[in-house]
Amino acid sequence: MTALNTSARIAVIGAGAMGAGIAQVAAQAGHPVLLLDNRPGAAAQAIEGIDRQLGKRVENGKLSAESRSVTIARLHAVEAIEALADCELIIEAIVENLEVKRALFRQLEGICGEHCILASNTSSLSITRIAAQLDHPNRLLGLHFFNPAPVMALVEIVSGLASDPALAECLYDTAKAWGKKPVHTRSTPGFIVNRVARPLYAESLRMLQEGAADCSTLDALMREAGGFAMGAFELTDLIGHDVNYAVTCSVFDAYYQDTRFLPSLIQKELVDGGRLGRKSGQGFYSYSPDAQRPQATEIGSEAQVQVCTVEGDLGPAQGLLVRLREQGVDIVQRDGPGLLRVGDAVLALSDGRMTCQRAREDGLRNLILLDLAFDYGKARRIAISHATGIDPLALKQGIALLQRAGLKVSLLSDSPALAVLRTVAMLANEAADALLQGVASASDIDLAMRAGVNYPQGPLAWADGVGLPLILKVLDNLQAAYGEERYRPSLLLRRRVAEGRTFHD
Ligand code: NAI
Repeated sequence: MTALNTSARIAVIGAGAMGAGIAQVAAQAGHPVLLLDNRPGAAAQAIEGIDRQLGKRVENGKLSAESRSVTIARLHAVEAIEALADCELIIEAIVENLEVKRALFRQLEGICGEHCILASNTSSLSITRIAAQLDHPNRLLGLHFFNPAPVMALVEIVSGLASDPALAECLYDTAKAWGKKPVHTRSTPGFIVNRVARPLYAESLRMLQEGAADCSTLDALMREAGGFAMGAFELTDLIGHDVNYAVTCSVFDAYYQDTRFLPSLIQKELVDGGRLGRKSGQGFYSYSPDAQRPQATEIGSEAQVQVCTVEGDLGPAQGLLVRLREQGVDIVQRDGPGLLRVGDAVLALSDGRMTCQRAREDGLRNLILLDLAFDYGKARRIAISHATGIDPLALKQGIALLQRAGLKVSLLSDSPALAVLRTVAMLANEAADALLQGVASASDIDLAMRAGVNYPQGPLAWADGVGLPLILKVLDNLQAAYGEERYRPSLLLRRRVAEGRTFHD
């Protein structure tokens, strides 16, 4: 089946933030679009709002005046549901309530033709459940856009138990023709993005709760080492803690309280206190006009270092050596287990053990553990940790070496897998379970996380790049350190390591 022809009439029900955006996308793609809302006048107002938005784009030279008027001419506000009778696709974007959505679709079945595709933009409800009481549950699918719909590329095409695969293909092709990046997913809680993204928030919240570092430092590490557009605290402040906490709770409950999705008491307290983020003027950060964002902590060193010794392969951190060489540091190469020695200090990429533990188990004095960076060649900051009792001079030498590579250094308390490594390992683990359970393909999971939440890389490809044996070791060590199910490695990860394969093989 191919994409719907642009002559196909589309209806969008619900003229709120999402409905208006979806209507705009369909009209810009060339379809006649009917917009309906149960608040009288809301649909017409939404079209006026779209016109104003497009007007600004014309003023900025980003859109021609003709495109604007052609798009607006394709949008029609309607006040009665009967007007949708000859639509070929009806997209519902009304209130997030199962019974209200079910009632609407039942009503639509009595109005629209037998070939009309019904789609829901629900972000958390089961498509199987919404469709269950319909005469033709096969024609109902999820079409999950992201906010703002005209800007965000991702669309999750969600299939419930009864959904017709041919219609899923048709919606996939149609979303593509609308300039979107569609992915297929089964109707499981959180679909792809709202499930796989949970650890980004959860691990930062836990690190904050355990005093590993403050919000600004953890956010800066996610951006400047992890390559994410935003850290968890600034991002949840933007999303709104009420919204983000509610999604976490709903995913947690939907997976029968699997501790992997455990909500955070720190976030609950913000919600309880009305500190909802930007929209309330206060979240993890203050948004009052005179507020200044606290600086990320940085540890400096005056020590002079000119030479270091690499013992073996540093794995993903090998890119550090290129930077050190560029800065004129002499590097001596020897065989070994992947250590970097400078003065009396020993540096190594974390394997998920705390520094105190690894120093004792591996007999390494003055050990400094390094966090993961998305790209060691480009990172601006790196997290380190050390055990108590480290020789102060050795610590200074280790920091000085990282500074020579042009990195800002943030010291975390001695926590397993530091910040970026721990987050990436957990994102990859969740993605692996989604893949194992047939929620979506590896390439669709990765695409969803890049296009839906702007990750610098899909979590499965990222884990492939880091090396699955290291990711597995990190999770095993996290699980041992915490003694919690939350960090249990996915069966698929363990299997791929045993097979010597990657996720994308
Ligand atoms: P909204 O509150 O901005 O808009 C909902 C609109 O639906 C309102 O204009 C309301 O008057 C109308 N409405 C409610 N019941 C109706 C009915 N029975 N018939 C006709 N119109 C009705 O909500 P928003 O944010 O646009 O969300 C809509 C849907 O999209 C929800 O299912 C939500 O979970 C989902 N969604 C929301 C995202 C977001 O970031 N806001 C992202 C992705 C999905």
